[in-house]
Amino acid sequence: MSYANSRIPESAQLGVHENLAEKVRRHLSEPFRKPVAHYNRIAFEHSLAGWDGRAPLILDAGCGVGHSTIELARSFPDHWVIGVDQSAERLERRKPYPPALIPANLVFVRADLVDFWRLLLESGLRLARHYILYPNPWPKIGHLGRRWHAHPVFPFIAGLGGALDCRSNWRVYVEEFALALAVVIDRPVEWEIFDAASPLTPFERKYRDSGQTLYRIRCELDLERGPAGGVGSESSEGANARTEALAQTEPMPHAHRETGEHDEL
Ligand SMILES: C[S@@+](CC[C@H](N)C(=O)[O-])C[C@H]1O[C@@H](n2cnc3c(N)ncnc32)[C@H](O)[C@@H]1O
Repeated sequence: MSYANSRIPESAQLGVHENLAEKVRRHLSEPFRKPVAHYNRIAFEHSLAGWDGRAPLILDAGCGVGHSTIELARSFPDHWVIGVDQSAERLERRKPYPPALIPANLVFVRADLVDFWRLLLESGLRLARHYILYPNPWPKIGHLGRRWHAHPVFPFIAGLGGALDCRSNWRVYVEEFALALAVVIDRPVEWEIFDAASPLTPFERKYRDSGQTLYRIRCELDLERGPAGGVGSESSEGANARTEALAQTEPMPHAHRETGEHDEL
């Protein structure tokens, strides 16, 4: 596929999936028991090793090649910015600045977000800003459960608080994300069309340059209210108990299974 000729995800699904709200409610009411992999615990520790313990935290979840992580670290020099991606190849790709100009207030870690988000919540840490930029859309109807908002980890995402910013070139994804978030936080969540005047990520640039409409949700997560199901309002002990490994009941739908599910750059 040539540059600036990118396609909007094609899907037989034209609106919000009819099972979404029920699925999210089920995730709120049932514990998520998938064991946390050791390599993700190591990655989590590494992500905080350079943090001074005081700087507000920004998570760039699924940062890909990390351009957005760098831009965020430049824009928020008093924050600690963590870029997480499961793909070592993307994380290691050449950056738009020479190493000497990469800000010091960021770290890249290779981890599975399904575990990373839960480790963050369990640790009692909360985010100032949280970016989920152009996540894999999983546009097939039967792949609903692979989209982040329909995944059992979604209540943990909401529990981390902060200004959440999720963007996609697939309207259905953003509509669904807003609906799922509204179920979790028990208040309406808006989505909008926006112009990416200064694209934050390579995918954003490519979609914009292809003339596509871009959609986003920007939601300030109010931690005092907490998610309706209580994941984010639990004590860290409670969250620990929830995630403690008993049996792996869910597959790991996102990890290492992305090929063909989204554009390549
Ligand atoms: C479509 S790309 C978007 C990358 C970047 N945010 C951008 O806009 O250019 C989605 C990214 O999410 C990452 N990803 C998907 N599932 C993941 C998971 N379970 N844990 C960590 N990263 C994941 C992929 O490796 C990929 O880099």
